[in-house]
Amino acid sequence: MSEERVSPPRDLDCAVRVPGDKSISHRALIVAALARGRSYVGNLSPAADVRSTVDCLGALGVWVRPFGAERCAVDGDGAGWLRSPADVLDCGNSGTTMRLLAGAVAGSDCVAVLDGDASLQRRPMERVAEPLRAMGAEVTTESGRPPLRVAGRRLLQAREHVLPVASAQVKSAVLLAAVTADGVTRVVEPAPTRDHTERLLRWCGVRVESDDALVSLTPGTVTPFGLRVPGDLSAAAFFLALAAARPAWRVRCAGVGVNPRRSGILDVLMAMGAVVEVEAEAGDGPEPVAAVAVRGAGLRAADISGDLTVRCIDELPVLAVLATQAEGTTHIHDAAELRLKESDRIARLAEGLRAFGAECEEHDDGLSVDGPAELRAARVSASGDHRLAMAFAVAGSLARGGETVIAGAECAAVSFPGFFAELRGAAAGGR
Ligand code: S3P
Repeated sequence: MSEERVSPPRDLDCAVRVPGDKSISHRALIVAALARGRSYVGNLSPAADVRSTVDCLGALGVWVRPFGAERCAVDGDGAGWLRSPADVLDCGNSGTTMRLLAGAVAGSDCVAVLDGDASLQRRPMERVAEPLRAMGAEVTTESGRPPLRVAGRRLLQAREHVLPVASAQVKSAVLLAAVTADGVTRVVEPAPTRDHTERLLRWCGVRVESDDALVSLTPGTVTPFGLRVPGDLSAAAFFLALAAARPAWRVRCAGVGVNPRRSGILDVLMAMGAVVEVEAEAGDGPEPVAAVAVRGAGLRAADISGDLTVRCIDELPVLAVLATQAEGTTHIHDAAELRLKESDRIARLAEGLRAFGAECEEHDDGLSVDGPAELRAARVSASGDHRLAMAFAVAGSLARGGETVIAGAECAAVSFPGFFAELRGAAAGGR
């Protein structure tokens, strides 16, 4: 395990470059595998999670060739043509790899066992197994957790699925399985989750109709494509939130994805009083792209619940850190899913915030954080959770009294391999 040391910058006014979006990178690779012919993906996320998807697709018989650090060519054989791998598929730490590939495998005539690291082995998989079974795939779990064994069929039964949890991963698994089903598949979600899969499949010629509550997919052929993945707003979030914390601090990230179902963090930052500028940029794919700049201000507390929680689910750790700097109590609710992520993020965040000297209260479905608090440098553990490693680095960048030490910080590479170098660069004056 490696440690990282963080201390506050004297000033912050810079541009930060973030990697390609992790969610979109997974989908670009998997959808390319379902197309017949060669696709090209640029600005692919260098995240360890995305590497897991590349490796698993290779094991499923797909020709996937990374070239350079962030580009990849994929030769797909068409939807339904994945092959049984020789070994267990190692999804590493990546829930997205496991759940989305479970869907793609379910729609092929093949059998695969999907497993992962200790964190992934604790995560719930019945939520994805159940709808795939209802379509006619054979899916087993170990008491609801990985390993997941999926025996797929090229012609699954089209169904209407009413999902009990708001999960883009589960929705995406069903949609990927449905590309070769025997009719129109419908998915009803309890709250609108990120729609990258719908956008990408539609862009590749598959008929996908959607509104806030319902998605329907008509089976069809997936056309190969060339796509530049937008920058990852969830990675930018750590720098944007840091800038928001101090008047006169400013960070700008160009070329990031601003899909409205992912951009809740920008709404929260604005509601807290930060100055947020979003300048639309031309993108070449199905996702909106923009340059986003955030300038700090005196912050006030926010209430985060309902659909807004879903729209910033991965940004809640860093928003909880930022809440320590805002006047009043920030309430985060409807976030019980946070307990089922790479760690129990509610419990681990509460511990971490207290280690920095902040006051907060844990709820079953979220967290209340009091502010403003003067954070003190601390020694904390990332608990094997990449977003906690980076959120605590932001806390350390706002803490007085020396260096903050983050144990197990290497897990940041699960989504953002260059994070600590970028943070040091930003603190040293940036670009
Ligand atoms: C993701 C969906 C979200 C998110 C995860 C990535 C995706 O999870 O938290 O980091 O790429 O579909 P759920 O869909 O399980 O809520």
